[in-house]
Amino acid sequence: MDVEVIPAILVKSREELLANIEKVKPSVKTVHIDIMDNIFVPNNSIGLESLTNLPTGISYEFHWMVKDPENWISKIPGKHMHLVHVETISDWNKIEKARAPEGKIGLAINPPTPIEKLYPYINNKEIKKILFMTVNPGFSGQKYIAEVESKVQAIRAKFPELEIEVDGGINPETSERASEAGANILAASSAIFMAKSIPEAVQNIYESGIRGRNKSQSIWWEKMTADIDVPKLIAEPPKQTLLDISPSVGAKVIDITELYLLSNNIRQNIVKMLHAAKSGHPAGSMGLADVFAALYFNVLNHDPKNPNWDNRDRCILSNGHCCPGLYATLAEAGYFPKEELMTLRKLGSRLQGHPHRETLPGIENSSGPLGQGLSIAVGMALVAKREKKSWRVYCICSDGEHNEGQIWEAVLLASKFKLGNLVAIMDRNNIQIDGFTEDVLPLEPIEEKYRAFGWHVINIDGHNIQQIISACNEAKTIIDKPTMIIAHTVPGKDISFMEFITEWHGKTPGDKEATTALEDLEEKRKFYQDEEQE
Ligand code: DX5
Ligand code: ZN
Repeated sequence: MDVEVIPAILVKSREELLANIEKVKPSVKTVHIDIMDNIFVPNNSIGLESLTNLPTGISYEFHWMVKDPENWISKIPGKHMHLVHVETISDWNKIEKARAPEGKIGLAINPPTPIEKLYPYINNKEIKKILFMTVNPGFSGQKYIAEVESKVQAIRAKFPELEIEVDGGINPETSERASEAGANILAASSAIFMAKSIPEAVQNIYESGIRGRNKSQSIWWEKMTADIDVPKLIAEPPKQTLLDISPSVGAKVIDITELYLLSNNIRQNIVKMLHAAKSGHPAGSMGLADVFAALYFNVLNHDPKNPNWDNRDRCILSNGHCCPGLYATLAEAGYFPKEELMTLRKLGSRLQGHPHRETLPGIENSSGPLGQGLSIAVGMALVAKREKKSWRVYCICSDGEHNEGQIWEAVLLASKFKLGNLVAIMDRNNIQIDGFTEDVLPLEPIEEKYRAFGWHVINIDGHNIQQIISACNEAKTIIDKPTMIIAHTVPGKDISFMEFITEWHGKTPGDKEATTALEDLEEKRKFYQDEEQE
């Protein structure tokens, strides 16, 4: 990622603007124009009338420090970057609509604003650039606020591909530390325009930026690997099909022991998260850990560093209350830092008691209300089929959820459209919130029911990772029917006092119980490791 220096122009007349552009044109590729409305910031700048017909041969980025950026952007045609303050966004669609078709949108954020404000946009709206204000906006010539660096660092560690710009108080000294924190674009006004030689000033800031970046590489790298923490990933060669170009396949774990150790990590983290949160659903999450490990570390084509990759397989979790298991898996795969797991169910956390599509990378559907996930999965699979996409849709659902009529509508529809690209995995653990499924509303004979509805059905031991993977592979060979994999699981699996006990559906372990649970899991871990040596 290259370091770039961009002169920031904060002026009050078109003459000054044009003069400044002329001054820097030989030294840089882009200029940054500050626009203020005296409402969002306590200062005024040039207005719209000065911004038309700007000189060509240089690209422009507009830094909108205005209350209603959409109204300004819509009047600026052309292929420019518009930096919009998160503090001013009320309706994202309006901003998207306002830009010219070739125009790009980036985000700007003030020093006191929490970085969480950025996440919904970075994760979902294809944002390529973030500008961190390193002074309070309004005036040039202020002192650089070093506290912003930790925010730059956090965003850089999570989003290594993002363009990160810093703006305010940037000079040859501060640019080194800002780049070390993770910025790669340095906007500066006074340090450039007040300098004796503009080309020299630009060069000095650039060189110091490079020094900072070289120091920083190792820091980002260490942070990133610490978060992922998946040992010995073995890449599988891309699978070629005759129909389309195969998507690039992410790193996959093919060693079965390794996969069991990953599911053990997932279980240990579920215990820790639920113990800290003091509320949540352990039994189902524990029972699904092997399915999660098999899917996310072997079966799915996905890219944790690019959660919205177009060609990814979609994995829908319909029984949203089992999200502790999904969260632990996503963190294990590198979608977000593992430390964040401990924020489960806390106010402001991205890890809510039921998953939210817009806030956490890797979550494909918001869920909680039961019985809806299969309908979402059917819709997605239908789109993929119609558009001849190679990605597949997996839907994890529970047995108790089959009490909902909506499930059966989706079952009918998937069969009608012959959705061979859809795989449902039922967590057949025989319990639901009020007791045993066969007491509450009997499902059996469930296999025959699915067959009668036109589905391909496979019964497996949901704790046998080899069987989970083989069933998913078998499903790939069935092209004219959806597949239901009935995964027979043990609720609370691997924890002595939790297995098969319905009350652990929605009760969390206290201090002593958590300790016992972790001891049980450690023992299980040793078992897998010993088995491997034999
Ligand atoms: C501040 C502006 C900055 C500013 C930078 O509101 O967004 O672009 O002009 O000026 P210096 O580099 O002098 O801090
Ligand atoms: Zn600016």
